[in-house]
Amino acid sequence: MSARACLSDDDVFALRRARGAPDLWPPLERLYGTHPSWAAFKPALEAAMEQAHAARSAPLRALDLARDLNPGWFQEPRQVGYVFYVDRFAGNLRGVLDHLDYLKDLGVTYVHFMPCLKPREGANDGGYAVQDYGAIDPRLGTMDDFADVATALRDAGIGVCLDMVLNHTAREHVWAAAARAGDTAAQAMYHVFDDDTLPRQYEETLVEVFPDDAPGSFTFDPAMGKWVWTTFHHFQWDLNWSNPMVFLEIFRIMTALMNRGAEILRLDAVAFMWKQMGTVCQNLPPVHDILQALRAATRVVAPGTMLKAEAIVAPDELVHYLGTGTHSGRVSNLAYHNNLMVQFWSSLATRDTGLMRHVLSTHFPDHFPNATWGTYLRCHDDIGWAITDEDANAVGLDAFRHRQFLADFYEGVFPGSFATGGLFQVNPATGDKRNNGTLASLSGLERALEAGDAGAIDDAIARIVMGHALIAAFGGIPLIYMGDELGLLNNHHDHLLPDGSTDSRRMQRPDMDWNKAHNRKDPATIEGRIFTAIARIMARRAALRRLHGRHPTQILDAPGRAVFAFRRAAPGEPVLCLFNFSEQAQGVSTDWLASEGVTAWHDLLADRALSPRDGTIPLPAYGALWIG
Ligand code: GLC
Ligand code: GLC
Repeated sequence: MSARACLSDDDVFALRRARGAPDLWPPLERLYGTHPSWAAFKPALEAAMEQAHAARSAPLRALDLARDLNPGWFQEPRQVGYVFYVDRFAGNLRGVLDHLDYLKDLGVTYVHFMPCLKPREGANDGGYAVQDYGAIDPRLGTMDDFADVATALRDAGIGVCLDMVLNHTAREHVWAAAARAGDTAAQAMYHVFDDDTLPRQYEETLVEVFPDDAPGSFTFDPAMGKWVWTTFHHFQWDLNWSNPMVFLEIFRIMTALMNRGAEILRLDAVAFMWKQMGTVCQNLPPVHDILQALRAATRVVAPGTMLKAEAIVAPDELVHYLGTGTHSGRVSNLAYHNNLMVQFWSSLATRDTGLMRHVLSTHFPDHFPNATWGTYLRCHDDIGWAITDEDANAVGLDAFRHRQFLADFYEGVFPGSFATGGLFQVNPATGDKRNNGTLASLSGLERALEAGDAGAIDDAIARIVMGHALIAAFGGIPLIYMGDELGLLNNHHDHLLPDGSTDSRRMQRPDMDWNKAHNRKDPATIEGRIFTAIARIMARRAALRRLHGRHPTQILDAPGRAVFAFRRAAPGEPVLCLFNFSEQAQGVSTDWLASEGVTAWHDLLADRALSPRDGTIPLPAYGALWIG
């Protein structure tokens, strides 16, 4: 770099490359150092970074610079995510811009367009079987439409998140097509086997993801005359991440999407990216090397972007996706907190927060450097009851029976359950069951409306609102799943797919209801009550710098089993957050609050003074307080 007062973009790029090198090359060397292509791979990756930098537009470079100077930008309390299928929300990509006022009313700063790259024809796992990463699904628009919409959203203060499906491609992707035509270099992009000897050996320790719809993890491809690894459906071919060419190609795809304006990439199904005989082939240590290298390399080119890991796994595995040990602060910016989500539902069903306290305090540090949670209550997928024997035993529960209870409760068949839901992928071999359902139906709204029971409707709304107060305060970016803010109920039809199979996860993928959205400010309607409460929670969150993601989240032992409590330990101004998981009013003693460091009787959520009575602050049925 020459000694000039004014740095060029290329100088800045060189500085970023030097900064990133210690995070980038050691994991790549561990992954690929002994691979025959290693020597060719290094300059190829350098060239790919240069090309991606050269192609980055001036506005995106400005965004990069701003965020590089404010690396905690994504942890700011104004950040709120909204997750939707483009067709179900707005018909097509350009249609999204017709709903900016809606997103603004909700306080949204980040929208996740559910899979919208060109999928294979026919069944495509809700878009998670991508045929062409360079094209948008033609039913939704074109790549130019995407770039325009992303620019318009950015101008409105909203960033766009896209799915990056990097564990597998569709069988119709060009690499797979070449592999099927006999191209051996293309076959090396996947896990291809001449016969089923090795697949059978791997299968001895693999766990089935879709035991019901798509049993087995390998598929025989008649065109190729060989077997290929397919963790999910037979048309989703797992990429071979032990081949450095896969890393290089996916890096090119990721930076191309970032250069079209994607600010966040959701890295799909990352737990499955590395295979090793004799293991479950999930969460293996090299996965974290891959993620670290992807973050380091994309940060050289596009530091204004971030990566979100989707690993829906047990607590001890999940924690690594936000960076632990040598990967600390280097792996992902965001990871879904599926354990918070599971524990929310478990505590609601039992009215007892013992397991929730145990899991969240035992397995997770109170904060992570350079990373934070995506907190959520529902998403497009099923709920898998990721509760281990050890955790259940620690609080006197039998894990298997508790998981069965939760599955029955949220299917709605357990006596006294308030929920209406469905089952997903019941595994007869293990007895495991997962659940479907929207937030509102699982929270009791569907059943309460059918019964015409006003009290039960109030309870259901209160559960929905309390849950949002929880994910808004916990630390991380709260992700609102489309329709939850209006109390949309289960979609009981339309589960049939083009190939004649069904996907019952469509239960939680209803169409947007714009009639209800129109009522969003009308307190006489259920949708108005829910929307107003959630928008208010997000507005209060945005106003409270004490909820910044860098402040620790310390789980507390609140008196009363139904109450879940944590402290957001902002220096000098802690906030104590309390949530009542039962329909019985609770009280919290001011002595206990004082012993936990809070002496100001102010509810920051409702923004009003609290009046303790007889040394107790009341916490209504399914209520939430942020005291400080
Ligand atoms: C992710 C998606 C899920 C999909 C799977 C395979 O977990 O959330 O919907 O089925 O990956 O791509
Ligand atoms: C499980 C898997 C996830 C998968 C999902 C499908 O949660 O861990 O990867 O996509 O099931 O619904």
